[in-house]
Amino acid sequence: MNYQWYPGHMTKARRMMQEDIKLIDLVIELVDARIPLSSRNPDIDELGKNKARLILLNKADLANEKQNELWSAYFKEKGFFVVKVNSKNGTGIKAINGVIQEACQEKIERDRRRGIKNRPVRAMVVGIPNVGKSTFINTFAGKACTKTGNKPGVTKGKQWIRLNKNVELLDTPGILWPKFEDQTVGLHLAMVGSIKDEILNVDELGIQLIHFLKEHYKGVLAERYECDESGTDVEVLEQIAVNRGCRLKGNDLDYAKAASTVVEDFRSGRLGKITIEFPERKV
Ligand code: G4P
Repeated sequence: MNYQWYPGHMTKARRMMQEDIKLIDLVIELVDARIPLSSRNPDIDELGKNKARLILLNKADLANEKQNELWSAYFKEKGFFVVKVNSKNGTGIKAINGVIQEACQEKIERDRRRGIKNRPVRAMVVGIPNVGKSTFINTFAGKACTKTGNKPGVTKGKQWIRLNKNVELLDTPGILWPKFEDQTVGLHLAMVGSIKDEILNVDELGIQLIHFLKEHYKGVLAERYECDESGTDVEVLEQIAVNRGCRLKGNDLDYAKAASTVVEDFRSGRLGKITIEFPERKV
């Protein structure tokens, strides 16, 4: 598969993030709980060094609960604070304030020693496109927040969302670019729908998903599509096309339609809670 990209975009976004990071105490990085490695760009480790770090396993509602636990442990072991969230319905969001205080304990203590009282923790949200940054900011900030702009000593035009007396959030998230050059990363991003479908071959994506599900989530395809999983990947796709009545004019099987049914069912959670990447395996 081939992906087009625009380096100009990326350079500008990175430069902006470098500037914004100077203003904050804590980086809140969203990753997709189904693909926690492919939905990260490790550049953030360099950009965010010396900052407190919180990883949110977002879309945890779509991922396998056991794997969510394993990923939490994986990132905690690497020194991150971690919270599992569903930004869409707010599950897990309440826990974040407490974790932010914990993650920024050092800064809070330092302020106290210097006699600075009640200076809120400043945070920014970062992540790759489509990981749920805007949804998270809206849910986390809720309606109760007030926006505070152009504070003295703060870059003009920056908007801060005052979440409560302890935390302020930069209202524009930082965009990180995934590691497109890695084919597996591209495939995994495509599976979860983070890459536009127009530039992908949906047949190929469906086949790859069938292959993965047969191996790691036995019985899921058989149950939903009443197909026999022991066939080849193409045979399984064919059965899905037959059973779902995916036909072209002239009655030929419509493989593309069957493939996109599988892909959409996976993305929307209709196939169940499915994690694509496992912590013990590198992508
Ligand atoms: P971004 O700012 O990082 O680019 O992502 P954005 O918030 O636009 O979210 C991208 C998509 O992911 C949206 O779906 C959003 O609803 C969905 N989403 C975000 N967080 C979660 C989550 O925790 N769980 C689930 N299940 N979905 C989440 P969309 O299809 O583009 O829009 P919509 O149909 O949901 O309105």
